[in-house]
Formats: sequence, structure tokens, C-alpha cells
Amino acid sequence: MDRIRQGINLNFAVWTGLARPFLLQLSVYLAGHDRVSVAPCRPILMRQTILVTGGAGFIGSNFILQRMEQDRAPVVNLDKLTYAGNVRNLDRIAGDQRYVFVHGDIGDRTLVQALLGQHQPRAIVHFAAESHVDRSIRGPEDFIRTNVDGTLALLEEVRAYWMDLTEPARRDFRFLHVSTDEVYGSLDPDDPPFCETKSYAPNSPYAASKAASDHLVRAYHRTYELPTLTTNCSNNYGPFQFPEKLIPLVILNARDGKSLPIYGDGQNVRDWLYVQDHCEAIAAVLAQGRVGETYNIGGWNEKRNIEIVEIICGILDEMAPRTGARHRDLITFVKDRPGHDRRYAMDAHKIERELGWRPKETFETGIRKTVRWYLDNEDWVAGVTSGSYRQWIETHYSK
Ligand code: NAD
Ligand code: TYD
Repeated sequence: MDRIRQGINLNFAVWTGLARPFLLQLSVYLAGHDRVSVAPCRPILMRQTILVTGGAGFIGSNFILQRMEQDRAPVVNLDKLTYAGNVRNLDRIAGDQRYVFVHGDIGDRTLVQALLGQHQPRAIVHFAAESHVDRSIRGPEDFIRTNVDGTLALLEEVRAYWMDLTEPARRDFRFLHVSTDEVYGSLDPDDPPFCETKSYAPNSPYAASKAASDHLVRAYHRTYELPTLTTNCSNNYGPFQFPEKLIPLVILNARDGKSLPIYGDGQNVRDWLYVQDHCEAIAAVLAQGRVGETYNIGGWNEKRNIEIVEIICGILDEMAPRTGARHRDLITFVKDRPGHDRRYAMDAHKIERELGWRPKETFETGIRKTVRWYLDNEDWVAGVTSGSYRQWIETHYSK
């Protein structure tokens, strides 16, 4: 009798296991998400898959490309494709069987629930965000919607999914939240760099929205024991960065002989890190980070904005000389950003000591690679600098 009962249970388990992808596909369809590109027949590698949010943006796409090269785990990329998201960043892996792209919003709980059920990820790496300080000053609402409400929605669905996992899978699961140094506010010239215990003092709507999301992640660990990790990183630069941010904006304006706008006196300091070093740090935290902890990531590379712009101009003088003029002649000081933080600097001792991570790139090597990349990828640049981009530049930099 026991054997018959076991047989029935086993058959039921096998049937529900086989039917699951179909049922989830059906639930996604019934919820009206016809844009979701799911692969119902692809075998699911249980508990290896990583669900990346915002993987069509600058850092997310670099992270996915790096993971696909260095690791065998399948990756599901959930991205809303805002102005900052670009599927072309991932052209290199478009045909890879391990990669699935899903066009959707982290705030869409029905969609997130269906994706978690279908792909059974062993980890979430959460990049999706509105990320540009100047845009947050002009319109903070989108920043609250995605960075705060969106993160909360994601956390809620992930918590429900995680609670239903088996005990070993619950133990191994990770939710890694990618955040910024800007949550700590601004440093004076002689202050020590930010360490993980520094209190939060965000100054822009962007920083405030990221700080709120960091607090939510922390609360989900403390209250529900969700196995979270948080990384706070300094300014990134490298391939695929949308040219509203300082470094790509300056490279492209200088290449085109346009003015190079420097806010205020150009003495604001940022700590710059090459994007691939950031991605390796995230991978190290995901693999070995202590649950519930925060890790600060930085390049030990503080530079004033004016220095950055002069370095880029010097590289361009060499790689793409202007006839009869130097690129630095294009530098123009413009009105300062409201509430402009004076200085950021990261103390990255904890991640170095605990996880053995260190940046591989110096600023000198990283910035040369970056300038070369923007000069060599004219199609990509043309694709992102049309329409709404031109509108942003005209509105933002008009007097
Ligand atoms: P990005 O603006 O280039 O990309 C953001 C991505 O998120 C885009 O692909 C966009 O389409 C997607 N997205 C936006 N709203 C979404 C939503 N509601 N649902 C799903 N997808 C959505 O940003 P980035 O520079 O790659 O930054 C990624 C993360 O890293 C952000 O959380 C940011 O706060 C953090 N960070 C960035 C830097 C930096 O220097 N860029 C430094 C430290 C931390
Ligand atoms: P940005 O790349 O927007 O990053 P963040 O504000 O997150 O640090 O800006 C980097 C620094 O460069 C910041 O101090 C503002 C300054 N900046 C300019 O001087 N001119 C510009 O046109 C831009 C976009 C930024």
C-alpha cells in the first residue's frame, strides 16, 4: 500500500514538474504580458540561474557579459528598457542558450512572480534603477517609483518565492542589491573616505531614493531573514555608459568639437572605478559575501572633475587630434548643479580584506580603454544619441 502511495506521489511530482513551465507560461499570458520572451521548453537548471534586473543598462550589461564569459550559470535579464536601457549592449550573447531577456518592470509583481516561478533563480542581482542625479533634480517621481516602490515590489515577490524553497535552497539563496556611495552624502577635503558604518546623509533625490532602497533591503534581512547583500560603489566608467554622465559626455562632445560643460568650479571630487572591476567585485560578494552585510567598493582613485576632463582631452589629442586646436580649448564652466556634493571617496578595505578583491585597472589604463571604445563604436553611439537624448541635452544645458 505504501509503495502504491509513493508511486502516486512520485507521479504527481513528476507531472507537476513537467507541467510547471506550461502553467507559468499560461499565467504570464493571462496576465497580459505578451512582450515577455520566455523559453518554455528550455530545461531549467534548478538553482543555478541568476535573475538580473536592469541588465540592459551600463553596469548591468557589463556584468552579464562578464558572467557569461566566466561562468556557466544561465542569466535572466529583466529590464524595462527606459531611455538608459539598450538591448544592443548584449548583442554579443543574443544567441546564447543560457541567456533570456524579459522586457518588463520590476514593479510588476505578477510578472516578477511568474519569472521567479519559471526560472527558479538561486540569486537576484538588482541593478534596475533610475540613475542620473541631474534627471532626479528635474523630476524625482520616476526615481521613487523605480528605486523605492520598484525595489519594495521586487523584495516582496522575492521573499514569497524564497519562503517556498526547500531548506538547503533557502540557505544558498542570495539577493544582492547594487547601490552607490552617494547615500553617504558629501565629504570635506580632509575627511576620511566612507566606510560601511558611516551614517547615511543623501543630498539629491537620486541619492535619497537609493538610500531608501538600501534601508528596505536591510529591513528585509533583519525582519524576514532574507539572505541579502548590499554593495555601495563609487562612480563607474567604461563601455556602454549612457552619454549623459560626465565621462562619455565629455568624450563624445570633444570628439565632435562641442563645448565640454563643467559644473561650478570643477573642483568636485569623485572616486572613479572601471566598470569591469565593479562587476568582479559584485561577483565576489555574491560568491563569498557574508549574508546581511554591506560592502563598499571603490577605486582608491579620487580625482577632481577638471582633472578628469583634462586627462580625456589629452588622450583625444593623441588618438583623434583636432586640426589647429587642442581639445581642452572646448572646456566651458557652466552653472553648478543644485546641492552638488563636493567630494565622494570610498574606503574599500572591507571587501579587500574579507574577499580578496582589488581593482585590476588603474585610472590611466581604464580611461584609455574607455576613450578607445567610444571612438571605435560609432554605431552604438549613433543609436543612443538620437531623439530623446538630443532633447535632454538641449533642455539641460540651455541657459
Ligand atoms: P543605468 O541607468 O545605465 O541602467 C539602469 C537600467 O535599469 C536600464 O537598463 C533601465 O532600462 C533599467 N530600469 C530602469 N527602471 C526599471 C524598472 N522599473 N524595471 C526594470 N528595469 C528598469 O544605470 P547604471 O549606471 O548601470 O547603474 C546600475 C545600478 O548601479 C543602479 O542601481 C545605480 O544606482 C548603481 N550604481 C551606479 C553607479 C554608476 O557610476 N553608474 C555607481 C554606483 C552604483
Ligand atoms: P555624473 O557623471 O553625473 O555622476 P554623479 O553625479 O553620479 O557623480 O557627474 C560626475 C561629476 O561630474 C559630478 O561632480 C557632476 C560633474 N558633471 C559636470 O561637471 N558636467 C556635466 O555635464 C556632468 C554630466 C557632470
